[in-house]
Amino acid sequence: MISTLHTRTYRGADGAPAPRLAYGADYNPEQWPREVWEEDVRLMREAGVNIVSLGIFSWARIQPGPDTWDFAWLDEVMDLLHEHGVGVDLATATASPPPWLTTAHPEILPVTERGETLWPGARQHWRPTSPVFREHALRLVRKLATRYAEHPALVAWHVNNELGCHNVYDYSDDAARAFRDWLRARYGTTDALNHAWGTAFWSQRYGDWEEILPPRLAASHPNPTQQLDFKRFSSDALKDYLRAERDLLRELTPDVPVTTNFMVMPGTKGMNYADWAGEVDFVANDHYVVPHPQARDELSFSANLTSGIAGGKPWFLMEHSTSAVNWQPVNLAKLPGDMARDSLTHVAHGADAVCFFQWRQSAAGAEKYHSAMVPHAGADSDLFRSVTALGDTLKTLAPVAGSEREPAEVGILFDWESRWASEQDSHPTSLLDYHQEALDWYSALLNLGIRADVVTTGADLSRHRVLIAPVLHLVPAELAKDLTRWAEQGGHLVTTYFSGVVDENDHVWLGGYPGALRDLLGIRVEEFGPLPAGQSVELDDDGTGSLWTDHVTVTAPETEVLVRYRTGAHAGRPAVTRRGAGSGSAAYVSTRLGADGLAALLPRLLEPAGVTSELPARARGRVEATVRRGPGGRFLFLVNRTDETVTVPGIAGEVLVGTTDDEGAVVLAGRAVAVLRTPTD
Ligand code: GLA
Repeated sequence: MISTLHTRTYRGADGAPAPRLAYGADYNPEQWPREVWEEDVRLMREAGVNIVSLGIFSWARIQPGPDTWDFAWLDEVMDLLHEHGVGVDLATATASPPPWLTTAHPEILPVTERGETLWPGARQHWRPTSPVFREHALRLVRKLATRYAEHPALVAWHVNNELGCHNVYDYSDDAARAFRDWLRARYGTTDALNHAWGTAFWSQRYGDWEEILPPRLAASHPNPTQQLDFKRFSSDALKDYLRAERDLLRELTPDVPVTTNFMVMPGTKGMNYADWAGEVDFVANDHYVVPHPQARDELSFSANLTSGIAGGKPWFLMEHSTSAVNWQPVNLAKLPGDMARDSLTHVAHGADAVCFFQWRQSAAGAEKYHSAMVPHAGADSDLFRSVTALGDTLKTLAPVAGSEREPAEVGILFDWESRWASEQDSHPTSLLDYHQEALDWYSALLNLGIRADVVTTGADLSRHRVLIAPVLHLVPAELAKDLTRWAEQGGHLVTTYFSGVVDENDHVWLGGYPGALRDLLGIRVEEFGPLPAGQSVELDDDGTGSLWTDHVTVTAPETEVLVRYRTGAHAGRPAVTRRGAGSGSAAYVSTRLGADGLAALLPRLLEPAGVTSELPARARGRVEATVRRGPGGRFLFLVNRTDETVTVPGIAGEVLVGTTDDEGAVVLAGRAVAVLRTPTD
């Protein structure tokens, strides 16, 4: 469907569809006087902008009262954009309900677990399960879709905005009712629910559906399966809302692709995007760099995971920032080169669009200090010049549009249910960070110059020779069978501490950990050994473990011990093991090694699969290599991860972006990106 978007967005001089990468931003013209719009479209042309997301927070402007509508301004903006060759990803404008609606219907406002109302005054103050909200929102969607169905600027629909950004967990009475319906559909009977939730514990047995509540603030730890189901339900409730808008749009404008912007980035956990991806015509994502020692690895990881969610198909970077944001404790400006490197890293991982929040930096409102394509300083600024330069680079990369990711030999499994379940309360440690563990494995592979695909559960395992599944905590019987079959047929599984421990109901697999994966791994753990913050243990390969240790016993003759604990409660016992399974293997890492420790261990773990770096030795660790492949060729993206110049010799191909030296080696200045094309067979 993203190809539909390309063809609607752009036709070449001969009128035939011509691929190109989309470039643009959220555009909020309602914040500016009319004369600024003229300057906007002129500057958009200068910058190479060919798409904007329009109307995201325009509900109050479009519908100033229950029965008053004002489309004149929007008609004018749509026409103006079209005249200037800018396509519109038109928002359904439902993200921020107007004051007249919340005044008339305060029962649409979300409620926290403590019973506090989230009042209007910011945005996204609506309950995902409110029938009243839905009725008003769909009325607006119908009006918009009917009015703009045939508008030539319309290239896609943008449902709501960042669904769940502020309202994913709502504990209101509407939510309670919808939660009960969801549970009824899942379990059928209260007996089945009582079993799944383990309600024999602490006298929690339910005799009637009406007795069940969301996990509101309780005297102690709420029931863990209730918590897990509430997470599943909350993700499903928003997905259901997304479907409601989408179905209406498909009915009214069947040829216009529908998307919504996901937030695959750290800290956003509530929406199971792997599960949502099938609901949209193309995947779109928002990503912001967060302050973190592995910040750029994290950007690459999120882009890579978005590609996994999109099934390796091209996707749309709907928002990122040209420079600083406004919502961190200290909002750092980007260094020269960072904006282009960030954008092109997303393209390297499959983005066919590079868009920002937002086009023009606001003069008022909570986001006035958030960067934009046109800063407060105006077009005569280094920032706008770098925006224009990036527009030129994206034009050069037009042949990349539509290409898919070339599968890597190594996959990293990112499992939403394990993420939710492993980080719940009343566990052996509250210090476990699922995302960080996955990111550490990713950084370790980047440090070794080895390409990896981040994939989600249900992805085709046969594409990968090695699958790293960090903290694969929640393992239903079927998943254990699939992994076992895949390993026996030649796959090499690597998993870690706290994996295989519970089933889909968050019930422990009995008989010793790692439960569902015990036989495959050929080990048994009788007791967990989490470590206090700041405490570590030494390993006999000179590595250091933290966070977690296990009392590992080898149970299969073919299980090898690769590394042992040298210190701590398990000194002398296995820390890292590997069992040959059929023509593959299954390895277990029982402690947290961090990115550096994993980089030291990984060559041994990858050895049976024969996986090594494709990069020349001097570029390994300093350059990230990513490959896209499509009708236009095979595209190798080389991203300089460092601030220093890196020279990469021996790379064949036509240089689309970047420079070479006299010997033909690719020369990457600090933070620079090169793109080389070779023909596909
Ligand atoms: C989100 C929203 C935007 C804006 C940006 C700021 O991504 O979708 O409206 O608030 O954050 O970073």
